[in-house]
Amino acid sequence: MTEKKEIINEFIKLYGGDSSDVRVFSSPGRVNLIGEHTDYNGGFVFPAALSQSSTVAVRKTDTGCIRIAATDLPDRVCLDIEKLGDYRSIKWGNYQAGVAYVMQQEGYYIQSCDILYNDTVPFGAGLSSSAAIEVVMALVIAQFSCEKGVTDKPNMIQLAKLSQKAENVYCGVNCGIMDQFASAMGRKNHAIFLDCKDLSFKYVPLDLNGYKIVIGNTNKKRSLAESKYNERRSQCEEALSQLKLAYPEAECLRDITAEQFEDSKTLIIDDVCRMRAEHVIYECDRVLKSVEALEKDDIRAFGNLMTASHISLRDLYEVTGDHLDIMVEESLAIEGCIGSRMTGAGFGGCTVSIVADYALDNFISEVGKNYEARTGIIPAFYVTEAGDGGREIM
Ligand code: GLA
Repeated sequence: MTEKKEIINEFIKLYGGDSSDVRVFSSPGRVNLIGEHTDYNGGFVFPAALSQSSTVAVRKTDTGCIRIAATDLPDRVCLDIEKLGDYRSIKWGNYQAGVAYVMQQEGYYIQSCDILYNDTVPFGAGLSSSAAIEVVMALVIAQFSCEKGVTDKPNMIQLAKLSQKAENVYCGVNCGIMDQFASAMGRKNHAIFLDCKDLSFKYVPLDLNGYKIVIGNTNKKRSLAESKYNERRSQCEEALSQLKLAYPEAECLRDITAEQFEDSKTLIIDDVCRMRAEHVIYECDRVLKSVEALEKDDIRAFGNLMTASHISLRDLYEVTGDHLDIMVEESLAIEGCIGSRMTGAGFGGCTVSIVADYALDNFISEVGKNYEARTGIIPAFYVTEAGDGGREIM
C-alpha cells in the first residue's frame, strides 16, 4: 500500500467520512551538507531535502477550527480560527498554530479543516522535523486560500519565509531560512546551493559516483539548544557591529572576506565573539569550495571540507558536544569514509558522512558498535536519498 492510501485510511478511521474529499500534502526534512550557522549571517548553505517527511491528510470542514492529530502521538488539538494567537505554549501543535497565525495576519484565508499528520523525520535530531511540519501546514493553508480566491497560487519561497517567521515570532526560535527553504524547495537527487542574503539559489546534482551520504543519528536529544542557538546569534551580531568600524558597508558577516577578517579581527573585543565570526566567515568559503568540488566530481575534496567544517564547529563555534564529536571521530576512522561532520544546529542530533559504497555495511556496523561502546547509546543510520520539496501528492 502506498503512503497516500495508508494515511487516508488512518484519517477516515479517526475523523469518519470517506476518501472522496481527503487530500494529501507532504513536505520533507533536510540534511545540511555544509554551511552551518551561516544562514542567519547572510551566508551560504548547501542542504538537501530528505525522503523522510511530514505528510498530512486533510479535509475542509465548517467547524471554525483546525483540528490536528498525528499518527504517532496521543495529542489532539483544536485551533480556534478566531483565536490563533492563543496557542504559543501548547506542547504539540504550536508550530502549526504559529504558521496559521502568521498567515492569517498576512491576509491568507484560514479554512476550517481536519488534519492528520504522519511524521517520518526523527524528532529533535537536527533534521528539521519542525520545518517539515511548518511548510506542509503553510502549503495546505495557501492552497485552500487560493481556492477560495483570497490569495494567489502558493509560491514555495514565500511559504518558506512565512514558516520561518512563525518559528521566529510564535515559537521563539530565532532560526535562519535554511530549513524551511530546503523543505519547501528540495529537488530529488539534488542539493540546493543557497545564498541566504538574497535567496538566490542553484540546484546541484548529487552524483557522488561510488559514494553515499550517510546520516548518523547520535540519539542524543538536543539540550538547551534554543537558548544556546539564540546566544550564538547575538555573538555574531556583536562581532559584526565591531568589524563594521573597518567595513561600514558590511550588512552581515558574510560580506566580510577571510582576508578582511584577518586584517581587522582585533577590532572584535571579546575572544569568544571573534571565534564565532571566524567560523562563519571561513565556513562560507568552504561552501563555495564544496560546490566547486562537487561540480568537478572531486568528492574527496568535498569530504575534506566537510571534516574541516566539523572541526570549526567544534573548536570555534562550540556547538558539537561529546556525542557528535565521538560519532565523527569513529566515522572518520573507518576506511572508505572520506568526510564527516555534524549537521543542523548541533548540541546533539545527527552527523552526515560521505562513505564509499563498498564500505557502507562495515561503516554502519563498526561506527554503531564503537559509538555505543563509548556513549552507552545505540545510534541509528540512514543512507540518504535527496527527495522533493513540499507538494500535494496527487
Ligand atoms: C537550525 C536553524 C537553521 C540554521 C541551522 C544551523 O537548523 O533552524 O536556520 O541556522 O540550525 O546551520
